[in-house]
Amino acid sequence: MNLFKSSIFLDQMDHTINVSFLTNYDKLIVELGCGDGKFLYQLSNKDENRNTFHLGIEIDPSQHRKSCLLFSNRKDNLLFVNSPFEKVIDELPDYSVDEILSVLPHPKYIDRENEIFWKPLYKTLLHKIKKNGHLLLITEYTDELFSPVICDEYMNWKEWIIATFTDLGFCVNNIVEGVPPNYTSTYIDLFSNDQERIKILTLFLTNN
Ligand SMILES: C[S@@+](CC[C@H](N)C(=O)[O-])C[C@H]1O[C@@H](n2cnc3c(N)ncnc32)[C@H](O)[C@@H]1O
Repeated sequence: MNLFKSSIFLDQMDHTINVSFLTNYDKLIVELGCGDGKFLYQLSNKDENRNTFHLGIEIDPSQHRKSCLLFSNRKDNLLFVNSPFEKVIDELPDYSVDEILSVLPHPKYIDRENEIFWKPLYKTLLHKIKKNGHLLLITEYTDELFSPVICDEYMNWKEWIIATFTDLGFCVNNIVEGVPPNYTSTYIDLFSNDQERIKILTLFLTNN
């Protein structure tokens, strides 16, 4: 089955990329703020049938450059774009993405004090995910002074984040304390080194 009925164009640094080629793939995985791209690159290598397209979006040009250096020849199931993810997400048709990955998003996109800013983004994501698809959100709790995390405070935060995504319309399908096995990225590795002060939580969020 084709993913897209029409062509989509992503505007990138004044160049226009035609991504109508996505019609050749059965599945689409999109990573928001993919940093140096290591996580998505590993995922794309596991896709033996090459029928899933992996799209990584990163705003920082130096990180984007690093992701492009992960492979020397073009990979036919992976593309890293240097753009704000809001812009790219808006271009994707509704119910077209099988999996959206948000691995340790910037505080601007997940912290409690910024929720008025980021809630509209996740509402948009809700409509971009296919009916059987999901948003994988890996996020972290730290206290304001970066002291060791107090269990009750972590539990309060966890309740808050689950309630917030439920109110947005997501269904919390699965919760993993920490990071699922075999998931690695530069920031996962960095944050996992300080488990006393950084508590990681993984949520699998569906739209039904
Ligand atoms: C904490 S880092 C995590 C990077 C990567 N996911 C990892 O786990 O190694 C957050 C990333 O999101 C990127 N980012 C922040 N805002 C963005 C936006 N609006 N569009 C695309 N990328 C963004 C940052 O440049 C940064 O690379």
